Amino acid sequence: MCRARCCASLYVVPLNISVIGTNYLGAAHAAGMAEFGHRVIGVDIDARRVDVLNSGRSTIFERDLEPMLARHTSTGRLRFTTDYREVADWADVHFVAVGTPANPDGSADLSQVFAVAETLGPLLTRPTVIAGKSTVPVGTAMMLEARLRELAPVGDGVEVMWNPEFLREGYAVTDTLRPDRIVLGTHSAEALRTMRYVYALPISENVPIVECDIATAELIKTAANAYLAMKISFINAMAQMCEAAGGDVVLLADALGYDSRIGREFLNAGLGFGGGCLPKDIAALAHRAGELGVPQLTELIEAVEHINSTQRDEMTRLTISALGGNAAGKRVAVLGATFKPGTDDTRNSPSLTVAAALAKAGAEVRVYDPQAHIHQPGVTQHPSVLDALADADIVLHLTEWPEFRQLDPMALDGVVRSKVLIDGRLKLHRPTWQRAGWKVIQLGRASTW
Ligand SMILES: NC(=O)c1ccc[n+]([C@@H]2O[C@H](COP(=O)([O-])OP(=O)(O)OC[C@H]3O[C@@H](n4cnc5c(N)ncnc54)[C@H](O)[C@@H]3O)[C@@H](O)[C@H]2O)c1
Repeated sequence: MCRARCCASLYVVPLNISVIGTNYLGAAHAAGMAEFGHRVIGVDIDARRVDVLNSGRSTIFERDLEPMLARHTSTGRLRFTTDYREVADWADVHFVAVGTPANPDGSADLSQVFAVAETLGPLLTRPTVIAGKSTVPVGTAMMLEARLRELAPVGDGVEVMWNPEFLREGYAVTDTLRPDRIVLGTHSAEALRTMRYVYALPISENVPIVECDIATAELIKTAANAYLAMKISFINAMAQMCEAAGGDVVLLADALGYDSRIGREFLNAGLGFGGGCLPKDIAALAHRAGELGVPQLTELIEAVEHINSTQRDEMTRLTISALGGNAAGKRVAVLGATFKPGTDDTRNSPSLTVAAALAKAGAEVRVYDPQAHIHQPGVTQHPSVLDALADADIVLHLTEWPEFRQLDPMALDGVVRSKVLIDGRLKLHRPTWQRAGWKVIQLGRASTW
């Protein structure tokens, strides 16, 4: 690809970059930094992950990531280590890309972020920029900077800035190389100058740059997630209205989407959102808003969360009702286990919540997913769609992998026991399935259009 080999060299002063934390976010970011022309070392405490990445392979399923890892590890421009000493004084910029999972009360667990400070801080003997990429509650960067300055021999030579990440799993490579925008939150002119070198290539390609204070940068990321979650819950509430009033939520969403002030994206009604980011990020924002005395935001987010969890309960209820009111001993085939297509990520997957609830209700739940590895008590994973569907009493389409849209319902005659389909993502072509003799249930599509 020309981007790294020739174009990058026109714009980029190669810097030494470390990326701390190398999973869904960090692996793509490290490879992307190498693609931009920098020398990169990824740091992780997981030695197995480091070994796999050093061999040019990916530990996650993410389209186009592996070729980029292979290309740059093979030239030595990119490598991975578990040893912070290799990067401490080598790197001009340290990106922090470790996890920020949820505490039981919804607040963000920042222990991984501050563990980075405890390990890296005492090793920092020359001025350096620490660029936070993890999603954190507003106020985290300043606390991190204070702790690092306390620990680092270079003291105030440590500048912490926030550069939040917006990549979507399934599109991590594209989003890293060509982001919609780059947010640089800092109070230091020197850190800003360095970060403009880091992103010289996308800046040369006119990717919008938002330069702002640190608090705004931290808030931009959580606000983006909250807004997206709000759109999904809004359309799901409208799906309930359509169901009650006899309307069609897909036509409604299409019509709304033509309005340029609204847009069609994230107006797909169905089982709602999940994953390792959106749910925990909006919960942390609600929690932080409470701490800062902004109850309006907490209430808004709680309503969004409530609608979202209702969709999972509703899907379970609908399935049991379609099974005649009792799931015990019934065979349920579930298509899709990841929280969305294009990833192997099953964290907080709506599909698996429903699968687990049905298993608890006594059903035999058989799941097929093209990428996920499922470890869910009471649920079995099957190597093919046909295997999962064998003798099913009902079929649930819960993650919209493109291959499920290719299924020929005519070919499923004799495979399932009962031709009943609940399309939890509203993505299958209802007339095709109906023509093949299936009963199709799509929440929010009560209209006969
Ligand atoms: N996954 C996404 O699509 C995405 C998108 C945008 C932002 N984010 C944010 O990025 C951050 C990371 O997300 P993720 O999904 O990659 O998280 P993850 O939990 O999957 O990965 C975290 C990685 O950090 C490593 N790690 C933990 N503690 C460490 C330490 N002290 N030193 C070095 N490595 C350490 C872990 O071993 C793991 O490899 C989170 O804050 C998340 O909200 C994620």
